[in-house]
Amino acid sequence: MHFVTQLPLRAAFAATSALLSLALCGAAQSTKPAAEAQKYIGPGSCAATSCHGSVKPVADSRILQTEYTTWILKDKHSRAFQVLTGEVGERMARILKLGTKAEESPKCLACHALYATPEQRGRAFEISEGVSCENCHGPASAWLGSHTTRDWPHEKSVAQGMHDTRNVIHRTEKCLECHLGTNPQSAAKPTNKFVDHEMIAAGHPDLYFELDSFSAVMPRHWKAPRESAPGKPAEDPSWVGVRDWSVGQAVQLRAAMERLTWRAKKDTWPEYSELSCIACHHSLVPAQDSWRQEHGYAGRRPGDPAWNASRYLVFRVMARQVDSASAQELEKQLSAVAGEMSKLNPDRNAVSAAASSAAPIAQQFAERLLTMSYEPATALRTMQGITQEPETIALGDERTAEQAAMALDSLYIAYSKQGSPANANEVRAAINALFQQLENPSVYNADQFASGLKRIRDLLH
Ligand code: HEC
Ligand code: HEC
Ligand code: HEC
Ligand code: HEC
Repeated sequence: MHFVTQLPLRAAFAATSALLSLALCGAAQSTKPAAEAQKYIGPGSCAATSCHGSVKPVADSRILQTEYTTWILKDKHSRAFQVLTGEVGERMARILKLGTKAEESPKCLACHALYATPEQRGRAFEISEGVSCENCHGPASAWLGSHTTRDWPHEKSVAQGMHDTRNVIHRTEKCLECHLGTNPQSAAKPTNKFVDHEMIAAGHPDLYFELDSFSAVMPRHWKAPRESAPGKPAEDPSWVGVRDWSVGQAVQLRAAMERLTWRAKKDTWPEYSELSCIACHHSLVPAQDSWRQEHGYAGRRPGDPAWNASRYLVFRVMARQVDSASAQELEKQLSAVAGEMSKLNPDRNAVSAAASSAAPIAQQFAERLLTMSYEPATALRTMQGITQEPETIALGDERTAEQAAMALDSLYIAYSKQGSPANANEVRAAINALFQQLENPSVYNADQFASGLKRIRDLLH
């Protein structure tokens, strides 16, 4: 992923400033009775200037009302269908022998479009509109009309099928449906979503995620921190980023454990995309120049590919700070997962037993991290924790290093807003240097990355 995402502007967006009130917006739409089945109606239903298609944020509104404009102009999700029709998409379809074009295959449409059966469609819309409003916010037919009425509570919309993205746990779960994958056991359902090594070997990017960085890159079309709403206090700006990062990490770990559990039951085992990519894919160098050989292979037989522990090794630092007893229990299960997965023939039962014991512990952390109060010191201690274990993180693998870089990025943005540290520019440059080291994964060097982390450790105080 490129952190400075510049998309070519699409056709000039014809819209004038929002003069109409939000209430009028609902009146312009057809309202469906709540009792009717929840159906998808397509992003066009949200696009009016007076609804979410304003060019400029509307003054005195809790809602920006520019969401559609942001999505269509800046958000890659609106291009998600188009990438299927491009060269890489078509090539993948051919290599995978899909028998159809990528843009006609449910295997791809499940994540790259608002893929609904005819019965789930409330009105006609174009599948080519990509990942749109209802992919994240849920089918809108039941709440479309009512949600525009003044003082309409969010909870009522949720009861009528709106996905509760306001809750950061549910929000992350929604992102991870596509950015990690969901259970293919239910193969008959069009919601079945996964990217495995077979797809990766045909050209699909490997999936990884971090809520705070990905939300910034998306970019956000909502106000963060959230302003106060009836009965809800405003969010404290100092910790929104830290909370999104930490809750996102805990949910991601839980979802990864669930994915490993169902993958352990599948035919393809071990599933290579669960392992460290660079264990198998790296440039070979003369023996004396190899950092891998020099460090040995902790916890595994030399030459066996290691498990990809990136969704745990960085989060572990936060978990220890929050609750050391639960963190120890989590460590026990994760060590079992890592140990077994880093064998040549991991035992399916041992892996799924440990992974399914770890999942609920990760969920408890998510719930705790969602409601606990944060302070700038939380961010500082976490950054120190990450940089004080440079070898563990760097040897984790390149994906773990990437999580560490994203974590430091998110945490430092939140932290430096508070105290404006005098050496902020130096720390920023040192974090950016970490990202540069990750640009070519197959020449990743753990020693160099560890030095980069040590440099940040020495700058933090
Ligand atoms: C589990 C959900 C999922 C499925 C299923 C899926 N994709 Fe993707 N795809 C993604 C995500 C998420 C990204 C963006 C990854 C990133 O940048 O982190 C992506 C990115 C891509 C890209 C690169 C786009 C770019 O901007 O460079 C192509 C091409 C692609 N997918 C094609 C396909 C094809 C073809 C299929 C079907 C064979 C498919 N995808 C199935 C989730 C999925
Ligand atoms: C990739 C997922 C995704 C897509 C696509 C998406 N949204 Fe969102 N949206 C979110 C998330 C996450 C939030 C922040 C959580 C929240 O406030 O509910 C949000 C927030 C909002 C909010 C503010 C809600 C509030 O109470 O503050 C509005 C309004 C909104 N989105 C409308 C839209 C519209 C309209 C579209 C389509 C043009 C759209 N969204 C597409 C994920 C998405
Ligand atoms: C329905 C599936 C789906 C959901 C849900 C979803 N995404 Fe995506 N996301 C995709 C696909 C597919 C792409 C690739 C689009 C492309 O490259 O044009 C993508 C791309 C992205 C990118 C751009 C990555 C890059 O390489 O530049 C970001 C950032 C992102 N998503 C963040 C999020 C966040 C944050 C959420 C949750 C609020 C979310 N996504 C929910 C499917 C999804
Ligand atoms: C256990 C070893 C192993 C692991 C782990 C592994 N791969 Fe592979 N990968 C292979 C093999 C073997 C091939 C087939 C290579 C060939 O035939 O040339 C392959 C092929 C590929 C290819 C296509 C060939 C190429 O060079 O372009 C890509 C891309 C790829 N893997 C990416 C990944 C990614 C990303 C990960 C981690 C998510 C990963 N692999 C994990 C062994 C592995």
